[in-house]
Amino acid sequence: MSDESRHHRTAVVIPAAGRGVRLGPGAPKALRALNGTPMLVHAVRAMAASRAVSLVVVVAPPDGAPEVKRLLDAHALPERTDYLVVPGGDSRQESVRLGLEALPDGIDTVLVHDAARPLVPVDTVDAVIEAVREGAVAVVPGLPLADTVKQVEAAAKGEPEPVVATPERATLRAVQTPQGFARDALVRAHETVTGNVTDDASMVEQLGLPVVVVAGHEEAFKVTRPLDLVLAEAVLARRRANDGF
Ligand code: CTP
Ligand code: MG
Repeated sequence: MSDESRHHRTAVVIPAAGRGVRLGPGAPKALRALNGTPMLVHAVRAMAASRAVSLVVVVAPPDGAPEVKRLLDAHALPERTDYLVVPGGDSRQESVRLGLEALPDGIDTVLVHDAARPLVPVDTVDAVIEAVREGAVAVVPGLPLADTVKQVEAAAKGEPEPVVATPERATLRAVQTPQGFARDALVRAHETVTGNVTDDASMVEQLGLPVVVVAGHEEAFKVTRPLDLVLAEAVLARRRANDGF
């Protein structure tokens, strides 16, 4: 990191309050185990692995904050990283807002990272932080798409959907987290933008502010469906095997 960037303080908000409906019945998604360790603990460690991160704010299921606090107390994190646990809300957007409200003074760079992306490599985290510290208002990691994407129109249930457009694939990116922001821009976005949004950067876009994409990583995929658990455990097994050499 450059000298200039050392003056900045960075916190990460981790929304972890979702149920994980698409993963099927069981504990809230963030508390499900991957190779014996809760997904949330992997995600917190992935953020704490960056030397630039001084605080992690975990947004727990609304009735689960004490349990999540105990869980984090029981799992080792680096000395340099503080953490806080706050209860979340009914939507991801509300959960992130509750996390932002818990940030102390003195933090000027904020990352938002899904607990459901437990395996993001530290190099991706550092690349996002570096881009914000060098002046970007909003930074998202993204990857080129393998599939062609079609825009469709709604059709009657069971009927084929008419295609209305095919955006040029080379211009598209599938975006991941952590997404990084100048704190004041993200807070303003959460205070003013309403409506259904699926990521934080799009809220900042709605303020008319610039958002940039840096290289994402295939291991930053989101655990959404049961097959993703199999993939995540395979990634962990591969890491363990590689560490052995
Ligand atoms: N999230 C949250 N609060 C909510 C809903 C989601 O903090 N009310 C978090 C999830 O815990 C997750 C992230 O937002 O880390 C991304 O959401 P998603 O992958 O959709 O997780 P869930 O909402 O839990 O899953 P599903 O949509 O299948 O129920
Ligand atoms: Mg969801």
